[in-house]
Amino acid sequence: MTLNAFAPARLGALELRNRVIKTATYEGMCPGGMPSDALVEHHRVLAAGGVGLTTVAYCAVSPDGRTFAEQMSMRRETVSPLRRVTEAVHREGGAASLQLGHCGWFTKNAELSTWLPRGPSLTLNGYGISVGKPLALAMSAREIAQVIEDFGRAAGLAREAGFDAVELHLGHGYLLSQFLCPATNRRNDAFGGDLDGRARLALDVLRRVRSVVGDGFPLLCKTNLRDGFRGGLELPDAVGVSTRLESEGANALVLSGGFTSKTPFYLFRGRRPLAEMIDAEKSRLQKLVLRTVGKKVIREYPFEELFFLPQAREVRAAVRMPLVLLGGVVSRANVDAAMAEGFDFVAMGRALLADPDLVQRMQVETQARSRCTHCNICVAEMDLGGVRCVLDGPRAA
Ligand SMILES: Cc1cc2nc3c(=O)[nH]c(=O)nc-3n(C[C@H](O)[C@H](O)[C@H](O)COP(=O)(O)O)c2cc1C
Repeated sequence: MTLNAFAPARLGALELRNRVIKTATYEGMCPGGMPSDALVEHHRVLAAGGVGLTTVAYCAVSPDGRTFAEQMSMRRETVSPLRRVTEAVHREGGAASLQLGHCGWFTKNAELSTWLPRGPSLTLNGYGISVGKPLALAMSAREIAQVIEDFGRAAGLAREAGFDAVELHLGHGYLLSQFLCPATNRRNDAFGGDLDGRARLALDVLRRVRSVVGDGFPLLCKTNLRDGFRGGLELPDAVGVSTRLESEGANALVLSGGFTSKTPFYLFRGRRPLAEMIDAEKSRLQKLVLRTVGKKVIREYPFEELFFLPQAREVRAAVRMPLVLLGGVVSRANVDAAMAEGFDFVAMGRALLADPDLVQRMQVETQARSRCTHCNICVAEMDLGGVRCVLDGPRAA
């Protein structure tokens, strides 16, 4: 039976008004790490536009889990400003999810508590060169245990802030994805080796978070279908990760891909906004690196609608749990196709940045589609005072 994307739907114990999720797109609206009025308004507008669930992007579970110092990390002080976000979303009839993550070694945060960042194994960290952190060290057992605790604590605070769901970031080359990836996890203890070992941290985190938030509270996991480079996580392992997350009680998987430090545009597809990335970069050293080797190291991938569908189908065939189709969902026709393929939800990023009212339009117009051109300037400029669509005109001074 094909589901109706625009009718109410259950996610764990939560009832959503429809099956359309605004996926996490880093907002850049937390100056000094504190959620601002702009963040409240951003998500209010998305909820007013009709999404069932809006996701507040990347909240680090601890200060060392930030990729850079301006990012939000979950602290007691952030609970009350985050509650303003969830209340605004609820007033518009929507629900709110918080994406929780840890960056592992992918960081240029000069405020780390250790000189060098930590990840599964010793590695180079090109992203951290400008702040004197060109290397990362392997995490100790104690550091791993601390990360598991931090995820649990952060999820508890998210619930206190009124979030209806939490999304654990297992993809895109952040810490849990670094552990899952064969090329970046070369450990020979219980957290490395075969897929059971590499998935152990993600599953321990999921278990810990569940024990804090309780049964029924929706836990989504954003996972990679492929990392997109040789030696990275491939589809058969992604299927194995999905079946393990299903057995462990995750409520839904958001199927994505790509490894930001190695294949940044694999997760977006479309134009590679190199000139805009160079302009937006604050570090002179990084600007120089982008200018000289940017074209070579940052690959461009052509945009296609529903670009993860072929791989996501393999996961669909392997699990019964709710799955969220993501990647190039830009129109009512795409949403209908996702439902017809047996997915339970769709998630949309750029299309809703361009057209926050798209869900309302899709409900009444079968021809509705976003005006997004996949220019990806929103990605290059997300740190310049708040994520936005350039089709809206020049940024206010
Ligand atoms: C400006 C921008 C910021 C993003 N930030 C995040 C993020 O913080 N966390 C995340 O998991 N994905 C992030 N993404 C990736 C999106 O969640 C999504 O996976 C990707 O844009 C593909 O979906 P789309 O084709 O609907 O845009 C970001 C995307 C954009 C455009």
